[in-house]
Amino acid sequence: MSIQYYSDSKIFKLDSQNTSYVLQVESHGYLLHLYYGALIPDAELGYLSYTCYHQHHMPRVEMEGPVYFSKDVNRMEYSCNGCGDFRGSALSIVGSIGTADTDIQYVSHKIYEGKPKIEGQPATYAEENEAQTLEILCKDHVSGAEVTLFYTVFSNYGAMTRHVAVRNTSDSAMNIQRVFSTCLDFHDARDMDVIHLYGNWGREQRFERTSLLHGTQSVGSKRGGSSHMHNPFIAICSHDATEEFGDVYGINLVYTGNFMASAEMDCDGGARVLMGINPDGFSWCLEAGEVFYTPEAVMVYSNEGLGGMSRIFHRLYRNNLCRGPWKNKKRPILINNWEATYFDFNEEKLYDIAKTASELGIEMLVMDDGWFGSRNSSESALGDWFVNEEKLKGGLGKLTEHVNALGMKFGIWFEPEMVSRDSELFRTHPEWALQTPGRHMSIARHQYVLDMSRQDVRDYLFDCIKKVLDNANIAYVKWDFNRSLTEVGSALLENKRQQEVFHRYVLGLYDLLEKLLNAYPDLLLEGCASGGGRFDPAWLYYAPQIWTSDDTDAIERLDIQYGTSMCYPSSAMGSHVSACPNHQIGRNTSLQTRGDVAMAGTFGYELDITKLSDEEKEIVRKQCADYHKYYDVIHYGDLYRLISPWKDRTRCAWSYVSEDKSEAFVTYVVIRCDIHERYYLRLAGLDPNRRYLNETTGQILSGSTWMNAGICIQERLQDFTSRTFHFVAVD
Ligand code: GLA
Repeated sequence: MSIQYYSDSKIFKLDSQNTSYVLQVESHGYLLHLYYGALIPDAELGYLSYTCYHQHHMPRVEMEGPVYFSKDVNRMEYSCNGCGDFRGSALSIVGSIGTADTDIQYVSHKIYEGKPKIEGQPATYAEENEAQTLEILCKDHVSGAEVTLFYTVFSNYGAMTRHVAVRNTSDSAMNIQRVFSTCLDFHDARDMDVIHLYGNWGREQRFERTSLLHGTQSVGSKRGGSSHMHNPFIAICSHDATEEFGDVYGINLVYTGNFMASAEMDCDGGARVLMGINPDGFSWCLEAGEVFYTPEAVMVYSNEGLGGMSRIFHRLYRNNLCRGPWKNKKRPILINNWEATYFDFNEEKLYDIAKTASELGIEMLVMDDGWFGSRNSSESALGDWFVNEEKLKGGLGKLTEHVNALGMKFGIWFEPEMVSRDSELFRTHPEWALQTPGRHMSIARHQYVLDMSRQDVRDYLFDCIKKVLDNANIAYVKWDFNRSLTEVGSALLENKRQQEVFHRYVLGLYDLLEKLLNAYPDLLLEGCASGGGRFDPAWLYYAPQIWTSDDTDAIERLDIQYGTSMCYPSSAMGSHVSACPNHQIGRNTSLQTRGDVAMAGTFGYELDITKLSDEEKEIVRKQCADYHKYYDVIHYGDLYRLISPWKDRTRCAWSYVSEDKSEAFVTYVVIRCDIHERYYLRLAGLDPNRRYLNETTGQILSGSTWMNAGICIQERLQDFTSRTFHFVAVD
């Protein structure tokens, strides 16, 4: 791993373990993108260098010398608006003159060990020996904007990160209209596909792959959160890339607010990918001397297909994004009372659930929505974060003591960013909710959104949470967010800054989360947004696990978890066994299938466990034991997706292989059975030369046979049934 600068050719080469990324300062000072892909030798860099200028009508940079240079047709490293590059712009700034044209040229650079923090924002982190960073300082000489492009290359993964800082060196304010975190140009994208994850409430992270078309394909969010609808992830891959072979470029944004990811194929067959804050609804007034930092984009290249890409994201996020004691600590098996009781519970009911759960091996009770203020339905009390002692007689202290006495931890639900219209908080501080004067405030789930850009709002919320956490032994907080932002105005900001509120909201949220974790470093946070409405890397920096979806049906979860696994590791995916018929879609599946599917994430239960039969309780007891037995391989192993649930919609299978390839855990689910007499499930990721025992059947075969011939499944498995297999190397 290294970052090199060749001063004769002005070429930068950024190598990770198995990737090279190459850019060059061309003769006029513009940054050109030359290459991104598998590792190439330094000696041949000159071969990559080129500029093109096609036709006479194309705007070109008029300079002395033989080279005509047109930004419209070259691969620009960070594209600017209005000066001859007519494709999507990464940067557009209105300076004191009032025009939006922007043009940056190279000034200087530095290369150093390690990775800088992005002030006030979540990002991947690295020790000095784990990464190297390149900063390239550029300047727009007319507006006075100094633009620094940051690149960090990780030594252990084919991953790099980018973000951008804009400093106003002029003596008057400037307005940033667009500032993307990354811009990636491809020379030839005519045989490329674009992949993204779309969805909605209860059906998040559906995988979609289409050909890259001429023009722009884009996904994004304007909802204030990264959203159920589109994940801040995009991948570009060759048409022939499969799960384990072929070129794949994945980009994921470490941001939990409005984002935009776009892929644009130009009419010469090249492509540009942009990822960053959604410019729609954003502008930022940068006063003289001020700096603006974008969020970080994580970029992964793999020539081992989608699986190769995912495994890099997973390792990077597990090791260099998640923080704190829970990063490498086994997560407790939890039972959440939401689907067991909804709002209808008291301390006795919760205790009964905890008692039965503890007898079966469950390790933590999570008390969900409904414990505070006058909260007996979704109609009231968000914001009134004091315990409802009519419901919980004896208060929280007593309940947690009782639960702790069972040997269980205790967790609690909050939705701090919200306020119910019917709440003491809203009656006292209506101005704390986001709103535009004179305009109707849209309401959703009977609630408004608090203005997280305000310090007083954040102080209030911190104090409320602190009081609760200080008065009882609470190990875990589920942090929910159940509506999108509308009428996004802040009572404290000047009119010219109102377009900043979406981003200021996100920065305010980060500030509160950071303060909370500083005060309670051992707290286990779980992110949630009506399920997976904010399943993004920014959350993983604060919360090592995120509730993946409100849809807990095991078969629906196959699609949802499969899509989520594109970037996010199993240790991040909240996944629970719930009751049947399933509350969201009414389907019946066996307890075994529900357990096998939930085991692919941070495992837990969400049902009235007191109502299970003795036979079912035995299954739960076994599942809890299995969770401990297979924890390491599932949570720290490499994921191999074996059969996609989207392919023929009859089966789904995946496996985890330990890093040293001594162990594998395989899950196979039948979605719709058919008339096959036998079925061979081919494994992946094993060492072909080692022999592995299939603990289920007792057979010992080479990794090569298990991978090329497969596990022979002869059992006639019915719809929605599952099987798991544990393999251990015997030599
Ligand atoms: C959201 C969450 C659920 C539950 C409810 C409580 O929908 O996703 O898990 O916590 O809120 O109101």
